[in-house]
Amino acid sequence: MEYNCKEFKVGKCEGEKLVDGETLPLVLTPPEPSKNGIESLLVALKNNKQWFEEMLVKNSAVLFRGFDVKNAVDFNDIVETCDWEDIRYVGPAPRTHIHKRIWTANEGPLSEFIYYHHEMVLIKEFPKAVILFCEVPPPEGGETPFVPSFKVTERMMEEFPEFVEEVEAKGLKYTFTALSNDNTTSMRGRGWQDAFATQDQEEAERRARALGMDVEWLENGGVKTILGPRALTKVFEGRKGRRMWFNTMVGMHGKELSSAMMADGTEIPENIVKRCEEIIEDESIQFKWEKGDVLFLDNYATLHGRRPSLAPRRVLVATCK
Ligand SMILES: [Fe+2]
Repeated sequence: MEYNCKEFKVGKCEGEKLVDGETLPLVLTPPEPSKNGIESLLVALKNNKQWFEEMLVKNSAVLFRGFDVKNAVDFNDIVETCDWEDIRYVGPAPRTHIHKRIWTANEGPLSEFIYYHHEMVLIKEFPKAVILFCEVPPPEGGETPFVPSFKVTERMMEEFPEFVEEVEAKGLKYTFTALSNDNTTSMRGRGWQDAFATQDQEEAERRARALGMDVEWLENGGVKTILGPRALTKVFEGRKGRRMWFNTMVGMHGKELSSAMMADGTEIPENIVKRCEEIIEDESIQFKWEKGDVLFLDNYATLHGRRPSLAPRRVLVATCK
């Protein structure tokens, strides 16, 4: 598809990569310096809605840079201009509601690396788009790297074709343990009461099952949730038949509070998990946040994470169907 929009100019960012002929992320900037206001951006977006959606699917990530996006109100206006339905976040990250469709991305300690994931990968209904806005860029670290997911599958197929096909056939099973009390010293430490938004065990169980999880209550008051079988890869409509690495094997395998195995109970070899981790890192795209940046990610096509950061850092998020 040719680039044919006069209301945006294509820019460049440090760290961008050419992946199968497309630049990730596609950087869109004001067509001229005077048109950098939020109003100009909203009008340009509104006039080119269909085109923009196509660009996001084609490039998997679009970064608006150089526009004067100041705060959650501006950011929400951008999100609403796209006209995509909101999807409510379910998961372990502690988030605070800021304004309308806007939340903080993660209140977990900045010193932690939030491992690469497709947003809500284990939940039946996951967002199509994850949109992030940088209100306060970190002084050091704190990048939001992202990874073209099909590249991970491609490279795993090159190195471990039999493993990939075995897991594909059997599916994956995950466990995740939630403690009973809130403990935001770890981003995985959110208590089950928060995770399921109830104080009541039976209600928590109902909600867990509605999300496709089994639960086992523990003596210490915590709960172990079991999910599976889940797919290793997924193919989504309109994305060139690419097999996305739509799982969280590396993120959950062999951790203190989580595990990943094949659905029949077969262990996943440590060396394969390690190698997969290296491949994901190797394929990742790193860019430095600038104040006012708005990053759109196709959540079907990209994994994203957060690098450890020095304070202050404020990145807000919206998720859409
Ligand atoms: Fe995320």
